[in-house]
Amino acid sequence: MAKSNTRLELTWIGKENRPKLEPRILVEDPEKSYHATFRRGREEELTAKSAENAENEIESLRSMRSMRLNESPDFFDNRLIFGDNLLALKALEQEFTGKIKCIYIDPPYNTGSAFTHYDDGVEHSIWLSLMRDRLEILRRLLTEDGSIWVNLDDNEAHYCKVLMDEVFGRANFVANVVWQKRTSPDNRLRLGDAHDSILVYFKNSSSGKTTLNQLPVSDSRANDFRNPDDDPRGPWASTDFTGMTGHATPSQFYTIVSPSGRKYPPPEGRCWAIAEENFKKLLADNRVWFGKSGNSRPRLKRFISEMDGQNAWTWWANNEVGHNQEAKKEIVSLFGADNPFDTPKPERLIHRIVLIATNPGDWVLDSFAGSGTTGAVAHKMGRRWIMVELGEHCHTHIIPRMKKVIDGDDQGGISKAVNWKGGGGFRYYKVGPSLIVKDEWENPVINPDFNAAMLAEAMCKLEGFTFEPNADIYWQQGRSSETDFIYVTTQIMTKEMLTKISDEVGPNRSLLICCGAYRADVTQFENLTVKKIPKAVLKKCEWGHDDYSLEIKNLPVKIEEDLTAKNAKGEEKRPARRFGKGKNRDTGPTLFDMGGLE
Ligand SMILES: C[S@@+](CC[C@H](N)C(=O)[O-])C[C@H]1O[C@@H](n2cnc3c(N)ncnc32)[C@H](O)[C@@H]1O
Repeated sequence: MAKSNTRLELTWIGKENRPKLEPRILVEDPEKSYHATFRRGREEELTAKSAENAENEIESLRSMRSMRLNESPDFFDNRLIFGDNLLALKALEQEFTGKIKCIYIDPPYNTGSAFTHYDDGVEHSIWLSLMRDRLEILRRLLTEDGSIWVNLDDNEAHYCKVLMDEVFGRANFVANVVWQKRTSPDNRLRLGDAHDSILVYFKNSSSGKTTLNQLPVSDSRANDFRNPDDDPRGPWASTDFTGMTGHATPSQFYTIVSPSGRKYPPPEGRCWAIAEENFKKLLADNRVWFGKSGNSRPRLKRFISEMDGQNAWTWWANNEVGHNQEAKKEIVSLFGADNPFDTPKPERLIHRIVLIATNPGDWVLDSFAGSGTTGAVAHKMGRRWIMVELGEHCHTHIIPRMKKVIDGDDQGGISKAVNWKGGGGFRYYKVGPSLIVKDEWENPVINPDFNAAMLAEAMCKLEGFTFEPNADIYWQQGRSSETDFIYVTTQIMTKEMLTKISDEVGPNRSLLICCGAYRADVTQFENLTVKKIPKAVLKKCEWGHDDYSLEIKNLPVKIEEDLTAKNAKGEEKRPARRFGKGKNRDTGPTLFDMGGLE
């Protein structure tokens, strides 16, 4: 009898199709990276005195990136990545697996709308596949005690819940936060929506490490605290202290006598929550309240001054965390009314998530960055951040916004609440090009745009080595352990060259050599493994697929347009063709060959 799958799961057309992602390198564009010229909390300013020494200043600021938070509240190693987030997340995997404490994503909701900066409507199966592929990598990036917060509306939230149960495990579901995003009902609808859902999952609830921070005591909660007996410890609220009898001990059944002389045994079917001995201590410390008359049932006094905070719950009202209109106003004050972004989130909403889910210095990641709210808020809260954005608004909105934050010129959003004065910085990266392209005879070749360092870094990623070039030993470009190294070169390796390297490597170390070709019997070198590139890596992944995005306008058709690209001089050239599109490509099917797009 066929073995049946008994697991409850969501199925959809094309679920079994998975992209074989190329682990791209990230290429920094220092022109777009930005760093404050001062350190917060330090008197000595590192202000660049002239254009000549500006680079040195920036270098010295960058060297601070290994500093711990207690040395400086500034972080300079935040990352803004321009490009498709699936490739970007894959690119981050090697360095950031298990390092991100909190992920907040606000992906396109699949509403069917076309916004100014992106389209938001793909066939449901495609949306689910695209999200599944991203969620799987996001899960790997989380620390064992980390959490992910996924902001959606009714278009896909319930499907995403089932999908996330599959990716994260149902036991790791924490809550569905209901955020009241509107301030009044939509007049056009008989039953309009007022809220978004924010699905919260832990990476691993059973790790025993997961914990969420409390919120500061809110003003409305603080109003519940009074001081009718002028207690010098300040305002307090009274709480019941009866308990269930299930696990009660005999010491929890006693009679309390009020100041007026009235006797209080535990209520019928219940016990006191604390043993008599402890009750007496609380009574002696004036922590038991019998009402103004001294005749009421006893309750415990809970002082506001002794509370660390209050627990959050899943109802997030707009007066506490903001609403869509507030978010739009924040964007207008940053960019002006002529340069809006359609779907920002209010800073107060992200502030609450970051507050609950992280501590200063933790990494926060948003791979659907939009106008950059997550990075701006994380930055102002002393967290490190990574943002990924595919749209041009990465340049028109995120970079200017983050510059204002760093310069201390953004006094909107949560700035006043956290007393933000500026500082820190970020590096800007692009998802690097594909390592393998086709030449004019349709043969796969190493992308001519790769220089030696890029090639070595890309091969390290593909072969599972950490890119760590040794300035003194040319054949040590990366390592997988203390004694195992990688050397990447496009040269043809001769017997003499291999003999020399093998002697240097010696009997206690091993070396993987990835080269253009070799002319020798390589089996004679016990400490060397020699592979030819690109042949050795061709089957590892899908090459040349640059856009796995959620935007219809970026689906495969666009790649065809790129084929008519001009070179830097404006001459029309036949570009090295990319893999991964159309029916004739050499690798397995991609997501977007599934069909179903209307
Ligand atoms: C709802 S917006 C996020 C808004 C953001 N939370 C804010 O406060 O501004 C979704 C963003 O995801 C981006 N996006 C969609 N597909 C993407 C992809 N494959 N890679 C990177 N970004 C993507 C869109 O360009 C859009 O900016």
